Amino acid sequence: MQVVSTVAQLRAALAGAPRPVGLVPTMGYLHEGHLSLVRRARQECAFVTASIFVNPTQFGPKEDLASYPRDLPRDLAMLERAGADLVFTPSVEEMYPAGFDTWVEVSALSRRLEGEVRPGHFRGVATVVLKLFNQFRAERAYFGQKDAQQALLIQKLAADLDTGTQVVICPTVREPDDLAMSSRNTYLDPAQRKAATVLYRSLCEAQRLYQSGERDAERLRSAIRTVSAAEPLARVQYVSVADAGTLEELAVVDRPALVSMAVFVGKTRLIDNVLLPPAVS
Ligand code: PAJ
Repeated sequence: MQVVSTVAQLRAALAGAPRPVGLVPTMGYLHEGHLSLVRRARQECAFVTASIFVNPTQFGPKEDLASYPRDLPRDLAMLERAGADLVFTPSVEEMYPAGFDTWVEVSALSRRLEGEVRPGHFRGVATVVLKLFNQFRAERAYFGQKDAQQALLIQKLAADLDTGTQVVICPTVREPDDLAMSSRNTYLDPAQRKAATVLYRSLCEAQRLYQSGERDAERLRSAIRTVSAAEPLARVQYVSVADAGTLEELAVVDRPALVSMAVFVGKTRLIDNVLLPPAVS
């Protein structure tokens, strides 16, 4: 496995690579969720690449950029075991040299859900992902359903700007107690870690109601809030039942919907989502 940290080295390393090339963009501190993307890429691509870059432009001023967990040697060992061929680990200066002044915005999608409570977040995500798409020119790039809005937005970006990279969305990988894996789970103390299971439990309640015939979106939202309210360590930031394509809030679930939520457990902000009708995996 080759490790490169400049765009020039990356171009040189990719020049003779067998095609198709698969790319897995990450911010590091890897877990099984990330590795599931690498393994999927390994199944579908002749050359598997990943990037590790904690992208400062997608963090708000009061967010956890400085404390975001990092462990490059561990990440590289995990990527090698999962079958990656090449890893790109650029510095902030390499990605954003002095004078950097071009930004990409996926307009409507980036204003909803996460975009509403994290202003500027998706501008940072879209910009860095477009840069990675231009740097790698991979045939395919792999993203997780865990970050459903991000995955949708990147699909839209790829389609609107003709990036030539096919965006593949892979299922959310969960811990044995169904907490969605996340690098941020490491911030949780044992009591908070236990409380964090409330996200998926709440979302499952909405799925259960839907399956028993409930189609009123507000009743689904309120059922999610009721389950979450029973967990004293959790503070719900938003609950959404939205059109799975446009992310517009629904009154009636008469089409595929994304049910998503953001919850603070202590200072840690967690997100999770399920689809209606439930995805068959
Ligand atoms: P990061 O949070 O490191 O996630 C990298 C990729 O792993 C994303 O596509 C994310 O959706 C996926 N992922 C995370 N947890 C997952 C889980 N439990 N199951 C399945 N996939 C999971 O998302 C980012 O980084 C950044 O925003 C990035 C796209 C790299 C741009 O900076």
